[in-house]
Amino acid sequence: MMDWTLAARAEKMNPSVIREILKVTEKPGIISFAGGLPSPKTFPITAFSEACAKVLREDGQAALQYAASEGYGPLREMVADFLPWKVDPTQVLITTGSQQGLDLLAKILIDKDSTILVETPTYLGALQAFTPMEPRVVSVASDDEGLDVDDLARKAGGARFLYLLPNFQNPTGRTMSEARRAALSARAAQLGLPIVEDNPYGDLWFDNPPPLPLTARNPDGCLYLGSFSKVLAPGLRLGFLVAPRALYPKLLQAKQAADLHSPGFNQRMIAEVMKGGFLDRHVPTIRALYKSQRDAMLAALKREMPEDVSWNKPDGGMFLWARLPEGMNAVELLPKAVDRNVAFVPGAAFYADQADARTLRLSFVTASVEQINTGVAALAAAIRESRPAQANAVGSGAAVRREGPPRASTAPSGGSEPHAVGSVGATQEAK
Ligand SMILES: Cc1ncc(COP(=O)(O)O)c(C=O)c1O
Repeated sequence: MMDWTLAARAEKMNPSVIREILKVTEKPGIISFAGGLPSPKTFPITAFSEACAKVLREDGQAALQYAASEGYGPLREMVADFLPWKVDPTQVLITTGSQQGLDLLAKILIDKDSTILVETPTYLGALQAFTPMEPRVVSVASDDEGLDVDDLARKAGGARFLYLLPNFQNPTGRTMSEARRAALSARAAQLGLPIVEDNPYGDLWFDNPPPLPLTARNPDGCLYLGSFSKVLAPGLRLGFLVAPRALYPKLLQAKQAADLHSPGFNQRMIAEVMKGGFLDRHVPTIRALYKSQRDAMLAALKREMPEDVSWNKPDGGMFLWARLPEGMNAVELLPKAVDRNVAFVPGAAFYADQADARTLRLSFVTASVEQINTGVAALAAAIRESRPAQANAVGSGAAVRREGPPRASTAPSGGSEPHAVGSVGATQEAK
């Protein structure tokens, strides 16, 4: 038996308690609101099938050959054209999903013990990409309009960057307001604090597009990540970075070391599908579907949930954020919910430090409306069954907020419990 010695960074990659918990969600018949997956109904399979045949017929040899690390030229141009600020295609780096973008930037920007700033809560997959570089992750207080700019200013000293998701955030579904973006952009510039802006959901708005990205306001001070996963299909594993000139060469070197380049065949397929304004026709169909799903979930929550459960109303994206009555814990609730054939992700998974153990993330996009109705009723029953006696009492003083932002759910020290699930790893289910 060989005695392998693990690197210190590998030791940091803790097993995911959440992953273990969510294994039970694989049981047949479970209604899962836990997934971080887009609805497969939205995948444009016919368009891909035609594009696939065309790419092989007309450009097969190049498509199947090794290729440039920067990405397929026409796709880089399409990305630059698509973005709502002036982007030079030479600043676009095609990545193997935006998840790779997070990994690459972590490698070039984080040293051991570097401070990096994140929202409260934040994307679990980003924490997973950053953790091996052994940073000190500091949570900045956030409310339903996004990041608290004053708290940011207090914590920004010496930080390498601020990572944030201004649009339809994963996990909370919240969107940063225009006023907050303007204030944050000005303050970050004043503090000399670089911003990493992750925007995989920005095109999935329901009624109105979100305000302009932060990168559009200060392109040199921001590193922007985008993805094809939520507007076309995640299985092709393609995303992109838009990097300031000062960073691009290092990101490119990290990319070369990681995988040489993202699949040229997939890049050509996406470029072929996107020709002629396909996204302008396709994305509205995703928005309409997700909006009706969100509405179904909101209606079911209103109908089924006890008075002192609260939740927000996301204006786009895939997720809704809810908060249990006082004294309850979402990690403890999950097995009881699973016994009733419904699953969600406990919010604690998404906090870099002190978690609010009462929060939970519900995806509204993959379950059918019928499943939403059944699943929310089952979840409400599980909550009623498992709530502590004092929280059952009428007029107990527990928060009563319905269809408002979950109260205090996003302050970094909003919960009394420490991080309930350790350093959680992303699973396909729990991204
Ligand atoms: C906020 C956020 N960033 C990045 C990703 C990674 O997406 P992909 O690698 O599929 O582009 C996800 C996936 O769920 C996400 O929610």
